[in-house]
Amino acid sequence: MIVTTKKLFEAAYGKYAIGAYNINNLEQTMGLFRGNVESKAPFIIQISKGARSYTHKKMLEGLITSADVVFPDAIFAVHLDHGDEETCYDCIDSGFYSSVMIDASHEPFDKNIEITRRVVEAAHAKGLVVEAELGQLGGVEEHVSVDEAHAKLTDPRQAREFMERSGCDSLAVAIGTSHGAFKFSGDQALRLDVLADIQKVLPGFPLVMHGSSSVPQEEVARINAAGGDMKGAKGVDASQFKRAAELGVTKINIDTDGRLVWTRVHREYFRDKPSEFDLRPIGKVFMSEYARFIADKNQKLGSAGHLDELRKLVG
Ligand code: 13P
Repeated sequence: MIVTTKKLFEAAYGKYAIGAYNINNLEQTMGLFRGNVESKAPFIIQISKGARSYTHKKMLEGLITSADVVFPDAIFAVHLDHGDEETCYDCIDSGFYSSVMIDASHEPFDKNIEITRRVVEAAHAKGLVVEAELGQLGGVEEHVSVDEAHAKLTDPRQAREFMERSGCDSLAVAIGTSHGAFKFSGDQALRLDVLADIQKVLPGFPLVMHGSSSVPQEEVARINAAGGDMKGAKGVDASQFKRAAELGVTKINIDTDGRLVWTRVHREYFRDKPSEFDLRPIGKVFMSEYARFIADKNQKLGSAGHLDELRKLVG
């Protein structure tokens, strides 16, 4: 059942965070639904601009619609990840998405508000909700010094004004994470103090954490042992998710960790079976490993086990 993130956030606020997982293909879709239904967790499917153009935007919609039939117990939102204005309007008009993210965080404050406001008005007119971003996350290749990194964190003093003037329904905040597999060069960690300050000015308002893959060291070691080269990869400490949820984070974005599962499964499989050339046996291994990964992540987010109570709220 497709619901808006708004409904999911109302149920989760202050108690747990909902996993927002990026998908690109059939095998991820199957593993995602299986893992969430097995762990009884609501979830958010994230579709990026790149995922929409990987094959054709209609292909993912078709996969998700079919998965909704195959897994009738699933409760989830379908969300555009990091949209520009044009892609947001395309998703709003498609009638398929339940929420969009407009990412104008690279723009100056007022311009970010102006763009976000336009998308909010178009989305609300069609019953969709909007995530916006204030502050800026680092990228995979970025080597920012600590001072520069601090300059990009969300400024709690701006958060209330941004929310009120833009009309957004949830806010992605920059609190020290970054996208990709190489997040922290030293001992940097999540700035839960900044998160607490944001919650003080936006009590009860759903916050979002991007760049939240944990980059498990065991996964990295297995990839490297099977011919990969990911030395120095490092992610967010998953034991901080529940504290972040208490501080108002209702959605936690995970993409890289899923890619690591894909990489590990494929590297090990072909290392161990060099004469194999059938795509289905390995596809099956991946789907089951991906489902296991999702179920395990939901335990860490605290979202596992909440499906039945949520069904009563949205059903
Ligand atoms: P990771 O790269 O940490 O998985 O973050 C994904 C993300 O934030 C997508 O919006």
